[in-house]
Amino acid sequence: MPSLPYKLHTVDSVKSTNTTVKALAKEGVPEGYVLAAASQTNGRGRLNRVFFSPKGTGLYVSILLRPSCLLPPYALTCMSAVALAETIEDYQVECGIKWVNDIYIHGKKAAGILTESHLNQDGSFDYAVVGIGVNLFYPENGFPDKLSETATAVFSGDPDEELRKQFLKRLLARFKRYYDQLPSIAFYESYRDRLIGSGRRVLVSEPDGVRYGIASGIDRSFRLIVQFDDGTENAVDRGEIEFL
Ligand code: BTN
Repeated sequence: MPSLPYKLHTVDSVKSTNTTVKALAKEGVPEGYVLAAASQTNGRGRLNRVFFSPKGTGLYVSILLRPSCLLPPYALTCMSAVALAETIEDYQVECGIKWVNDIYIHGKKAAGILTESHLNQDGSFDYAVVGIGVNLFYPENGFPDKLSETATAVFSGDPDEELRKQFLKRLLARFKRYYDQLPSIAFYESYRDRLIGSGRRVLVSEPDGVRYGIASGIDRSFRLIVQFDDGTENAVDRGEIEFL
């Protein structure tokens, strides 16, 4: 895998950095293009959710990749989650990863990852866009009501532009370190060790319905292993979990 060459672009506001970078990917822009925005007007999360993206308090960044190897579906998301968790820990803030793409601090969500890929007919990557959204500081007017119980920020102090820039630099460096080692999943143990909820009862929502069980870890394809109430053990590779 060739070393990832970053080209960082910053903008004040954009609908969604993922949407912009996906359009550039379709035009043939090479991998390594990074778009960081100070705010998003239509920040998007997994499962068609909105990602609250107010100005100046968060990090909203998308990275264009064209991996030359085949990877398990969630590998890039999990690699990004590890790069992000380790960056947060650089600042002595403890965090964990909720399968598959969320970073939690003290039981609340501080960051999420949205990976959007397009594969060629033979299964190789045309492109992948990894979008990372982090609540670095508390929004000036707090989180909207529907997030106030569930969302948190990495830092408790006032917004600090220098810190925001430094955080992004560190995150991109960690991300590159793991990306350049693919297809070796050098980040697997780091993901496994930070996974929240092994041994906990979960509700698993998949496209074809919901099931209850006990989460017991992840396999090397980053699928969640769940012992379901009907006695079966399955590797879940879609949807999401809710802790009960
Ligand atoms: C999630 O919480 O489900 C994932 C959130 C991902 C948000 C980031 S912010 C940068 C990039 N642009 C988007 O519109 N979404 C991702």
